[in-house]
Amino acid sequence: MYDFQPDSDLDPAERYRQLADAADALTNGEIDAIANMANIAALMWEFIPDLNWAGFYRVVSNREEADELVLGPFVGRPACIRIPFHQGVCGTAAASGETQLVHDVHAFAGHIACDAASRSELVVPIRVSGAVKAVIDLDSPMAGRFTGDDAAGVERLAETIADRI
Ligand code: SME
Repeated sequence: MYDFQPDSDLDPAERYRQLADAADALTNGEIDAIANMANIAALMWEFIPDLNWAGFYRVVSNREEADELVLGPFVGRPACIRIPFHQGVCGTAAASGETQLVHDVHAFAGHIACDAASRSELVVPIRVSGAVKAVIDLDSPMAGRFTGDDAAGVERLAETIADRI
């Protein structure tokens, strides 16, 4: 049995440090990307409060050989399967390679609503050798849920797991 539980009353930096350590321990030595993303989605769900969706979209070439995002392992309600680059918060993060911290999804032009309960969103690209390989997507039902601390913590997680997904 795996028992990775965040300690209670942690400040965000320490909580994200423990999350990165747990993800490192859980994926160490495992080469199956789907298994690793599935376990990391479960860890994000356990460690990050006030989420309604936590998971991955992977960069995949479509039939026209253009890159798009395809749904990966997640926790939450069923979600959009394919997202073109430049569309939505995830497609913007993938195309730009930049973290997207959205305080109010209704104010983000082109936001793709997979769960009507979502109010704020954080999307962090995962880079391997400079290229975006996937994005981590977190949704919250609370407006303004995510801060710079969350962005820094999830960016740290993305670096930790980049070569294991
Ligand atoms: N809201 C995202 C789509 C993915 S769902 O939130 C899981 C977007 O605008 O790209």
